[in-house]
Amino acid sequence: MMERVPVTIPALQAISREGRRFACLTAYDASFARLLDDCAIDIILVGDSLGMVVQGHGSTLSVTVDEIVYHTACVSRVCRHALVMADMPFLADASTELALINAGRLLKEGGAQIVKLEGGHEICTTVSLLASKGVPVCAHLGLRPQSVHKMGGYRIQGQDDEAASLIFDEAQQLVAAGADMLLLECVPSALAARVVRAVDVPVIGIGAGPDCQGQVLVLYDMLGLGEGRRPRFVENFLAGKDSLRAAIEAYVDAVHKRHYPAQQHGY
Ligand code: KIV
Repeated sequence: MMERVPVTIPALQAISREGRRFACLTAYDASFARLLDDCAIDIILVGDSLGMVVQGHGSTLSVTVDEIVYHTACVSRVCRHALVMADMPFLADASTELALINAGRLLKEGGAQIVKLEGGHEICTTVSLLASKGVPVCAHLGLRPQSVHKMGGYRIQGQDDEAASLIFDEAQQLVAAGADMLLLECVPSALAARVVRAVDVPVIGIGAGPDCQGQVLVLYDMLGLGEGRRPRFVENFLAGKDSLRAAIEAYVDAVHKRHYPAQQHGY
């Protein structure tokens, strides 16, 4: 069996350049992190979805930096291979200075290797500052759950020409500002494909069709624990399997082999 080496940002860039795929899931604790790591997941995201799926809130807004630091440390402590990405909570980047301090905490205390920030052109200055200080950044565009009240709900973004152009332009601005990765949530597959072609960093999709190099799902959603109507892009990988391990291995395999997501999972 081939010895697995730790996943790095340059390694993910190489995977993307070579037209291969990488798999990402969320985790918030050591037991799931260990299982995901054993199942060869490429990235573990300690997402602020924590607020909804672990803490039972109706949105991600109440999650604090202390909470993300705590859960990121639980995950990174046991991770031997996967890259650990930590979410910057709502308003943790209210100023560029605050963003630097908080991102520093996620790396220094949490053990994350990259931070994820929601936003468009307005976060370019912050992304530049973090990049200049050696903090890797993934910029999260499209449906931005921290802006749920501005968006009026969790809706597909970038559906008309104007909205699609804005996301397309902002994706390029964020990469020019120093983002090492992009994450596109709930945007039309055609828009995601255009972004993938236009930028030279890996793009992770969730509800963004089959063309992104990386795919992410909230762990509990892909285990069938999601509440209410299941979004089109979520597949229950536990259905028909007899263990959590089998479900997670099936997800990693399906992403790596480009079987998931398929056209029908996109918009
Ligand atoms: O917080 C989270 O889990 C996320 C994913 C939905 C991408 O941001």
